Amino acid sequence: MSITVLRIGHRPERDHRITTHVALVSRAFGADSISIWERDEKIKKSLDSVVKRWGGNFSVLFETYKQAFKKFDGVSVHLTMYGMPFEDKIDEIKDLVFNQKKDLMIVVGAEKVPKEIYELANYNLSVTNQPHSEISALALFLDRLNSGEEIKKEFNNAKLKIIPSEKGKNIIAE
Ligand SMILES: C[S@@+](CC[C@H](N)C(=O)[O-])C[C@H]1O[C@@H](n2cnc3c(N)ncnc32)[C@H](O)[C@@H]1O
Repeated sequence: MSITVLRIGHRPERDHRITTHVALVSRAFGADSISIWERDEKIKKSLDSVVKRWGGNFSVLFETYKQAFKKFDGVSVHLTMYGMPFEDKIDEIKDLVFNQKKDLMIVVGAEKVPKEIYELANYNLSVTNQPHSEISALALFLDRLNSGEEIKKEFNNAKLKIIPSEKGKNIIAE
């Protein structure tokens, strides 16, 4: 079972920072990879550097949504403010992913989402029916999917680790 995030609508000149944050949230909250529809080597470089220092096996790929859907064999969830409430479907999806061991692809957009995505995705789910952000929608969805357990995740092969402290910064380097 693997969890991947498909980031559609990325425009390298405008969305660099927000897509980097989508990727960081994906990694921190339990996804294994992100696919971005437009090549942007800077994002890959920055995520590879995070993985090298902070551990885990997160990977960045570039592919169109058509390529991603074509090769994907699992459950796909498109996060959209127009969809059904995610809290009504999350148990069904947890069962598919964790009990039936299906791969999961979570699709998040940017400015404009192609109509076809609503048909291609198995689920169109909203995280409230209010407009907000792909970063918050993704974070909430991954947190509920993992029942909050991803918060405690330890990343293997980490060179850096934070020792939580009341004040200041305490980092140990291997
Ligand atoms: C800034 S929004 C743009 C939404 C755009 N108007 C559209 O066509 O859906 C960017 C992305 O954030 C996510 N998003 C924003 N609000 C959401 C919500 N309430 N529930 C789920 N996802 C949301 C969606 O993935 C969306 O594609």
